[in-house]
Amino acid sequence: MKKKLIAGNWKMNGSLAANEALVKALLAGLATPACQVALCVPSIYLGQLQTLVAGSAIEMGAQDLSAHEAGAFTGETSAAMLREFGVRYCLVGHSERRQYHFETDALVAAKAQRALAGGITPIVCVGETLAEREAGKTEEVVKRQLAAVIHANGHCISEIVVAYEPVWAIGTGKTASTEQAQQVHAVLRAQLHAASEHADRIHILYGGSMNAANAAQLLAQPDIDGGLVGGASLKAPDFLSIIASAR
Ligand code: 13P
Repeated sequence: MKKKLIAGNWKMNGSLAANEALVKALLAGLATPACQVALCVPSIYLGQLQTLVAGSAIEMGAQDLSAHEAGAFTGETSAAMLREFGVRYCLVGHSERRQYHFETDALVAAKAQRALAGGITPIVCVGETLAEREAGKTEEVVKRQLAAVIHANGHCISEIVVAYEPVWAIGTGKTASTEQAQQVHAVLRAQLHAASEHADRIHILYGGSMNAANAAQLLAQPDIDGGLVGGASLKAPDFLSIIASAR
């Protein structure tokens, strides 16, 4: 069985001093984790993180990358630049990017493609809004979002990570129930299986108010292979406790 993956998403939080204190506290409490651990941090802190996590079990992640290879794209960061800093994972299509930066399914698919071509594992985020859930459209929405990425990436699809993050559960303290999460994960798993004979190796993470109290129950579901953790990844004891429950 594959090891679970717990990824922290710091979002736009941190400072040189706070990052150092947080990562040092994590390293002190981590020893040899039973799961894979990654931190997705603001790009400007990747250099700092690279030094802090060198030789440890913590892998590096970014929160976004350009869909372009290089050139006149002011403000963007390329896959090659991320690789140079030792980045293994990159979030793609987080709901905050879809919502505030108008990222479309097609752009998200192009970014996933660019990450894979650059040797970075895209963590492709999908999830429905509250209005979509209440309209009974959850499956339709997540399948459409994932289908765009599958279509653009063909047989490479077994190299991605998927994160199911119901938008209504992000930063709200409202977690999807274990049944709600498992149900959507099973739908995504079936869609991946239809696309690739190697779909078993794909991690499907749950994200949305995952915390020290609810992580174990969510992670015990058959199709939940890990977590994408926002707020609780900024507190070392909470993040360590989530990591400890991922076995
Ligand atoms: P919270 O854990 O703060 O709800 O954020 C989830 C998330 O968006 C992780 O990418």
